Amino acid sequence: MEHFIQEIIFQKYEIGQEIPYELLLLADPSKELVDKYLENSDLYLAKINDIVVGVIALFPISDDSVEIKNIAVKQEYQGKGIGSYLINQAVQITKLNGKKSICIGTANSSISQLYIYQKNGFEISSIIQNFFINNYSEPIFENGIQAKHMIMLTKVLF
Ligand code: ACO
Repeated sequence: MEHFIQEIIFQKYEIGQEIPYELLLLADPSKELVDKYLENSDLYLAKINDIVVGVIALFPISDDSVEIKNIAVKQEYQGKGIGSYLINQAVQITKLNGKKSICIGTANSSISQLYIYQKNGFEISSIIQNFFINNYSEPIFENGIQAKHMIMLTKVLF
């Protein structure tokens, strides 16, 4: 894990670079929704040996707060600490920008995501009932559980 982190280059996406849809769609199957929030998001890339291995999109939801709208790590690089690294980079950037909180939403069925966000200091703050039923055309199942509700988790920044 340490080995990987030392090799990571973390940089802001610049207009003209290829948009890493393959990764973004791992976190969010709706390209339409992805394109919509990317318009107003700051997108950051994690690269190893010039390969984009992770992405994180930060979307301002108020003067005081940003939402992580998308976080994804390339499949073969998952479980090696890169997701936690991206979350911690996002927290640092959001703090430096003077914001008071950062939040993230995930499905009730996304067990490992609920684990990783809470492990990184996010706490459940609200639930958007039936979000996945109302916003996605196909039913989504993970871990044998239907994704119905959006669980919002927030980290307060001091
Ligand atoms: N294999 C093994 N362990 C895993 C795995 C996995 N696939 N996923 C998570 N873990 C465990 C790790 O062991 C680690 O636990 P530990 O800190 O106790 O050792 C913990 O979960 C965190 O793992 P990281 O390695 O930091 O996370 P990772 O680099 O795998 O990134 C992420 C997590 C972004 C969720 C990644 O698995 C992924 O891209 N998943 C598919 C896309 C996705 O679901 N994105 C989130 C959707 S919600 C949103 O975007 C707002």
